[in-house]
Amino acid sequence: MTDTYRSIAFTKYGDSRVLHVLDRELPEPGPGQVRVAVRAAGVNPIDWKIRAGLMAEVFPTEFPAVPGGDVAGVIDATGEGVSGFAAGDEVLGTGIGGYAEYVLAEAASVIRKPESLSWELAAALPAVVNTAYRALNLLDLEKGETLLVDGAAGGVGTIAVQLAVARGLTVVGTASEANHDYLRSLGAVPVQYGEGLAERVRAVAPQGIDASFDASGHSLSALVELTGGPKRVITIAASDAADHGVRFTSGSPAEQVPGSLAEGAALAAEGKLTLPISRVYPLAEAAAAQDESEAGHVRGKLVLVP
Ligand SMILES: NC(=O)c1ccc[n+]([C@@H]2O[C@H](COP(=O)([O-])OP(=O)(O)OC[C@H]3O[C@@H](n4cnc5c(N)ncnc54)[C@H](OP(=O)(O)O)[C@@H]3O)[C@@H](O)[C@H]2O)c1
Repeated sequence: MTDTYRSIAFTKYGDSRVLHVLDRELPEPGPGQVRVAVRAAGVNPIDWKIRAGLMAEVFPTEFPAVPGGDVAGVIDATGEGVSGFAAGDEVLGTGIGGYAEYVLAEAASVIRKPESLSWELAAALPAVVNTAYRALNLLDLEKGETLLVDGAAGGVGTIAVQLAVARGLTVVGTASEANHDYLRSLGAVPVQYGEGLAERVRAVAPQGIDASFDASGHSLSALVELTGGPKRVITIAASDAADHGVRFTSGSPAEQVPGSLAEGAALAAEGKLTLPISRVYPLAEAAAAQDESEAGHVRGKLVLVP
């Protein structure tokens, strides 16, 4: 093993051109941490938002910064006090700067990778699975209810639709026409987003919408109108949530659903939870991956491989 490793880093906020390859010294895991040799890293919209400086108040960035969190790989070193993991264990979870050949992670933030899960799919799961479980949990849904998912074809939406269908809900999901067959395959009734959304939803769901999950941030007022008020609407993406009286969930520890990643990974390994990997990029092409994410029309997930 070498004592340096390749990462993708940025030293100032900006567009994707601020990303560059940076060789770093291999860090030792601290107490409670593991070091993971990364086999695949998931790309999330938060990565380009942080890089662009849009999250500077919420996530202050120390430069040089390595983007990313979602990873899957093999533990190659453990820090003091870590029990339950050893070098050689295959894991997935949340690391500290995932666009890299190696990453440190809190041992509590990773789980064992089910054997049949590919590295790419394992790396795609953590953020979207944790987020979808959390949002559905906060909506406190009951079997037989109708849920509207806005942004249903993206990573979070894809998981949320399937979990909701499995819980016995009727799901209406928004996407562009090109993703309507895809949403049907997940079990949702597809509706085109944009102007006239409320009328189109009423047409396909005359029974009414009981709760709405905003995973897009573009149509919050229509979601509130369709749900009959803000109480049973939740958003992960709308910056104007407070103006609508809607709860924004950013994933505070109190909001987390323990065991959600392990359950989601097991379902994915059994083929009961689908998450298409729309494209795999080499690590060195992280800028192109972030540009595609920022363009806003990924179906499922983008993944990097070192
Ligand atoms: N607060 C949190 O804890 C948290 C956690 C995870 C994600 N997020 C945020 O939640 C959002 C979704 O995340 P993600 O990972 O699912 O993103 P993503 O995978 O990049 O979402 C892409 C999807 O958005 C759809 N879309 C584009 N414009 C839309 C519109 N106007 N209305 C409805 N859907 C539209 C696209 O569908 P078409 O291709 O059919 O247009 C595409 O399938 C992002 O803003 C992300 O930053 C927040």
